[in-house]
Amino acid sequence: MSSFPALRMRRARSAPWIRAMLAETRLHPSDFIWPLFICDGEGCEEPIGSLPGVSRWSVDRLAAKAREAADLGIPCIALFPNTPNDLRTEDAREALNPDNLICRAIKAIKDAVPDIGVLTDVALDPYTSHGHDGLVDSSGYVLNDETVEILVEQALVQAAAGADIVAPSDMMDGRIGAIREALEREGHLNVAIMAYAAKYASAFYGPFREAVGSLGRLKGDKRSYQMDSANIEEALREVDLDLEEGADFVMVKPGLPYLDVVARVKAEFGVPTFVYQVSGEYAMIEHSAAAGAADREALILETLLAFKRAGASGILTYHALDAARLLNG
Ligand code: PBG
Repeated sequence: MSSFPALRMRRARSAPWIRAMLAETRLHPSDFIWPLFICDGEGCEEPIGSLPGVSRWSVDRLAAKAREAADLGIPCIALFPNTPNDLRTEDAREALNPDNLICRAIKAIKDAVPDIGVLTDVALDPYTSHGHDGLVDSSGYVLNDETVEILVEQALVQAAAGADIVAPSDMMDGRIGAIREALEREGHLNVAIMAYAAKYASAFYGPFREAVGSLGRLKGDKRSYQMDSANIEEALREVDLDLEEGADFVMVKPGLPYLDVVARVKAEFGVPTFVYQVSGEYAMIEHSAAAGAADREALILETLLAFKRAGASGILTYHALDAARLLNG
């Protein structure tokens, strides 16, 4: 009988070189999509209180941000406007203005940094006076089909301005098919759709809502359209439907608390599956690091790596720039 373990698993962990050689999962700057918030005005940077280290930038300063991301090897940015208050209405009509904040931002970035992809959010919450992602009836219920009609127009306006990927984040039924059809009809054959397919009604979106100015406005919650955290079979049905309707890629959101959903979606469908590490997750990392509870850089890399291990094809993260810098050494 041998007096030593038959296999010493620790041999594979005994030095940095062998750990590097045996890593099953790797992070790379091309894994990231960087969300950016836009404000009106010129020469502005507005720090966002609940997202330490994240600011809104005016259109004239965005291209430099996009350039920074591209130079770090980040392939794509996601844009979110903070619409001026006087342009927020019940019917969200500013979403369809071809000269609105997001369209101006798309053009400025496409002009200055043509080598980075631009993803835009399709949903009405930055434009409605009530902060919901769609139109509401007199009882406050978010109307599905009426909202889809506007989302289609919104997606077309964004595509015409130069968006490469439109990402419906509203969770209305049938919007992917309707948007795909309209994009084809209007000749936007290479504009892709990243469907927020499994988007949960989450407590982790708070800082984002501050960033786009919908926090104080929101009446009630989004549980009649976003998914219940209790469910995973339903997430698979949502993904299945969005793919059938023509989604090119799907997304799971939030991230870390829903890694099981990411893993299931990737395993069952084998399609590009993105994950959104949302604002509340970012804030959790920043605050715990600031409180001295953990090492910030280690937290960033460990959580991002976890998404890759779960099967994610890419990650929307406010830490994209920091993480890319760490990886580029
Ligand atoms: C809105 C939208 C939200 C996020 C992305 N698009 C918020 C919401 O659904 O209320 C959240 C992103 C984040 O928290 O970082 N359609």
